[in-house]
Amino acid sequence: MSGFSAQWLTQREPYDLRARNRTVLDAVAASLKSHRSVRIVDLACGTGSTLRALSPHLPARQNWKLIDNDLDLLARATAVPLANDGAVTAIPLDLNRDLEAALDGAVDLVVTSALLDLVSDTWLDRLAVAMTAHSIPFYAALSYDGRTVFTPADPLDTAIIAAVNAHQLTDKGFGPALGPAAAGFAIAAFEALGYSVVHGTSDWAIGPDDRDLQHEVLSGWADAAHEIGALSLADTTAWLTRRRDAVTAGRSSLVVGHVDFFATPSATR
Ligand SMILES: C[S@@+](CC[C@H](N)C(=O)[O-])C[C@H]1O[C@@H](n2cnc3c(N)ncnc32)[C@H](O)[C@@H]1O
Repeated sequence: MSGFSAQWLTQREPYDLRARNRTVLDAVAASLKSHRSVRIVDLACGTGSTLRALSPHLPARQNWKLIDNDLDLLARATAVPLANDGAVTAIPLDLNRDLEAALDGAVDLVVTSALLDLVSDTWLDRLAVAMTAHSIPFYAALSYDGRTVFTPADPLDTAIIAAVNAHQLTDKGFGPALGPAAAGFAIAAFEALGYSVVHGTSDWAIGPDDRDLQHEVLSGWADAAHEIGALSLADTTAWLTRRRDAVTAGRSSLVVGHVDFFATPSATR
């Protein structure tokens, strides 16, 4: 168990799919257009959200290696059917300990989603160096970037968002996390190693009718703010109650900022 429930990943998947940056996705698809078959490694695949999002945009013959340290999520991900004679292989691996093993063998593309904000600068540098050594392109989607806008505004929104962003910096198993700074850090790291990077925003747009997702996000954020201890329990619960009331009344919407990027080495193998 990783702490990311299949239920949560399933709930967020349609919002992730809608949010994925089209320019970045098109750049990924264009880069592999001439391939007859492609070998893809998905780092921290969860239930296979990236496989489902990306597969229709790639050449028909696909060989996916799905990597995660959560066996339940991996089992769900490998149940995703692939068109034609593609293959999906589950590889249980701790990406903090065994990152380099995940990149072993012939690979045309490494992908990830909703992972980079969990990792440290040291781990991202390690990833960039390992990818460069093999000249592998990298598609990283849906890294949270710290921008959140609640409508209608509440006097405590700014304090809660700051607390959540501080919580994002705690260790999630890869050393002190980069949180909102992760995508910017990764883009700079890959550019410094000679990669060209296409990037753009992939914000969640959560409307008044998306009550279930809003309730889920709000309770997660109240928990994170409480854990960090930047606000009193009374303030956090009062904020949560007001926000929940607005959601129930159909008056609440939310934008959560994310970044997608596609990094291509100067020479792909
Ligand atoms: C936010 S979820 C994203 C899952 C999926 N990529 C998606 O977009 O739905 C983060 C994923 O990272 C995985 N994870 C966390 N720490 C890991 C580690 N040390 N090694 C491998 N996977 C890890 C979790 O099991 C989870 O599936």
